[in-house]
Amino acid sequence: MSEKPKQQLFTTRLGVIAATVGSAVGLGNIWRFPYEAGVHGGGAFLVIYILFIFLLGVPVLCAEFALGRSTHMNVLGCFRQLKPRQPFWKIVGIIGVASGVMILSFYSVIAGWTLEYFFVALRGDVTGHTTAELHSMFSEFTTGWRPVMWTVLFLLVNYCVIVRGVQKGVEKAANILTPALMVLLAVFCINSLTMSGAADGLAFLFKPDFSQITPAVVIGAMGQAFFSLSLGLGCMLTYASYFPDETPLVRSAAVTVVLDILTALMAGMLIFPVVFTYGFSPQEGPTLVFEVLPAIFTQISGGALWAPLFFFMLFLASLTSTISMSEIGIAWLTQDRGVSRGKACAVIIAIAMVCGVACALSFSYWAGMSLPGIGEINIFNIFDYTSSNILLPLGGMLISIFAGWMLDRNVLRRELTTPVTAFAVLAPAIVFLLRYVCPVMILVIFVANL
Ligand code: TRP
Repeated sequence: MSEKPKQQLFTTRLGVIAATVGSAVGLGNIWRFPYEAGVHGGGAFLVIYILFIFLLGVPVLCAEFALGRSTHMNVLGCFRQLKPRQPFWKIVGIIGVASGVMILSFYSVIAGWTLEYFFVALRGDVTGHTTAELHSMFSEFTTGWRPVMWTVLFLLVNYCVIVRGVQKGVEKAANILTPALMVLLAVFCINSLTMSGAADGLAFLFKPDFSQITPAVVIGAMGQAFFSLSLGLGCMLTYASYFPDETPLVRSAAVTVVLDILTALMAGMLIFPVVFTYGFSPQEGPTLVFEVLPAIFTQISGGALWAPLFFFMLFLASLTSTISMSEIGIAWLTQDRGVSRGKACAVIIAIAMVCGVACALSFSYWAGMSLPGIGEINIFNIFDYTSSNILLPLGGMLISIFAGWMLDRNVLRRELTTPVTAFAVLAPAIVFLLRYVCPVMILVIFVANL
């Protein structure tokens, strides 16, 4: 039933894993997870987040994989091919392309911060400061013009990679990068665990205080589960459209999920001991990780050497994620609209640049901006919150309804079990979750939050 794939496919099995893990592992794990967990009470957030990863993340990831690989189409074309008479499903694609660009915009601001820190670290200036100095250094940086420059520069680098196509280079880069990043994280983790605040930090992260659970914590954890696994926008669907037919879907999903959780946990175990040792506030928000990391490099032996390496790897990890976000729109423009790849990349990057600059400015010249009748507006926060906590779960809900109820149950099951691996035994459970659990759970959380 699947049309002959027109586009290039990932060439090796390792390439498939590298690309999907490269998309999933990024600032979402190392920057967003610790700041969200910090704001939302630590342990309680972690428990709900992990629950959502298994109840929502795994099934929706498998659904996106199945939809993408079976059609070899972009996020709009896929639904059109499967249900030509139900144009309603186009909405998933439209949400996907639009919020892909939205996430790309604010994500590039943070990726830009990693570039600044890389160069500061190269100069040897990231270490040897007190907590108060780190705080003022960082706010001096974010309130100036440099973040705007880095956002633009980061997007230009992203452009240079995506015009060449995902399959060239990204596969190979991600093959080496993700394992290397995880080894570095592990080393830093061990270092953090020897600090005086380690016990408090670990207790904060791993000891759930269930009285802390509020609707905001639940919706934050759901948003983080989707964000971290790149779900809900058809990003993984687009990547799966480049999978060769012999890719085992459930196993690939399992590898992606395990590495993704592991990276987030290591980031948490790295950050929170330092937070409690040096008296940072866990509730600090998006800026937390960038103030805490220099404290780590100050303390660890050879920190001045580790620091540039770490920020460079963080930059590369962000890049493998932004490439995947850009690809949602590019695949649609090139396959459905007949736009050349070069033009499609230019359009996506240009829009992201305008929005990204607005996001960067919301830490500086536009901080505390307010509109009459609406009140204070922070474009960065609006982009981050709306996309992660509303659009991704909404997209995930529609994808699970489509895969669970619209798609022939046998087709879905066949996709999940071809080729057969030991993971195929999970297929019935995944189908069950997609039909009965995901849509209802997401809906209930939305309604409860209103
Ligand atoms: N998952 C990535 C991270 O954790 C971010 C990301 C890439 C993403 N593609 C996405 C988030 C698509 C949402 C949707 O850094």
